[in-house]
Amino acid sequence: MNKQNTKLSRENAIHEGKAKIIYKTTNPSLLIQYFKDDASAFNGKKKGQIEKKGECNNDISSNIFSRMESDGFKTHFVEKLSAREMLVKKVEIIPVEIVVRNIVAGSLAKRMGVEPGMPLSIPVVEHYYKDDDLGDPMINRFHMIAFNLATDDEIDYIEVEALKINEWMVNFFDRIGIILVDYKLEFGRSPDGILLADEISPDGCRFWDKATKEVLDKDRFRRDMGKLTQTYEEMRHRVLGG
Ligand code: TMP
Repeated sequence: MNKQNTKLSRENAIHEGKAKIIYKTTNPSLLIQYFKDDASAFNGKKKGQIEKKGECNNDISSNIFSRMESDGFKTHFVEKLSAREMLVKKVEIIPVEIVVRNIVAGSLAKRMGVEPGMPLSIPVVEHYYKDDDLGDPMINRFHMIAFNLATDDEIDYIEVEALKINEWMVNFFDRIGIILVDYKLEFGRSPDGILLADEISPDGCRFWDKATKEVLDKDRFRRDMGKLTQTYEEMRHRVLGG
């Protein structure tokens, strides 16, 4: 889609999250995602700023979405508009975060009482109810249907799609020297069907360097590991050059 043809301009904000602001545009079926430098962790209890994070995440997400679109995945991505702005199709976000895991880390290591770093024999797909006040509790298919969060068919589609996306993502990141440990996806309903939405960036993924096992994601902020801007820039450099 061509920016000139859409004659869009940014109108008022309709949603402000922890890392992004969503703006209406003059086209009712398109929105703008604005990427902020604000960082948060532990359900908003820890807050900070990472210089240039917004620009890096927009570049990384735009690049990955556009590669995925070329490979036949359906996403909300239309185009990168500016350093911090991404034009996206309007979707109704399904209020369930889909976490896909390839290696044990984070909350799974705690829940199962194992050390981070153990490879999983199959990718593990988990669902979390998107509700900050409740701390995004883990739910399953029964909760999703009983609480009308998604239909049986939608859950089938999302789970199959998440596993296809995982295969693609593991391969892509492997090519750029990264182990894709785990990550969070969001999907939304649109007139074009269910689309992969939100962002794919170091904010919502765990990336470890293949050679050194260095942490290259938001865990550096969560665990006060330093080199924050440098890490986001390193991931941008690798993804864009991949
Ligand atoms: P976890 O180990 O804390 O459950 O997180 C698993 C992965 O999903 C990790 O890469 C971070 C990402 N994630 C988010 O980005 N947002 C969330 O709200 C949750 C629960 C996970």
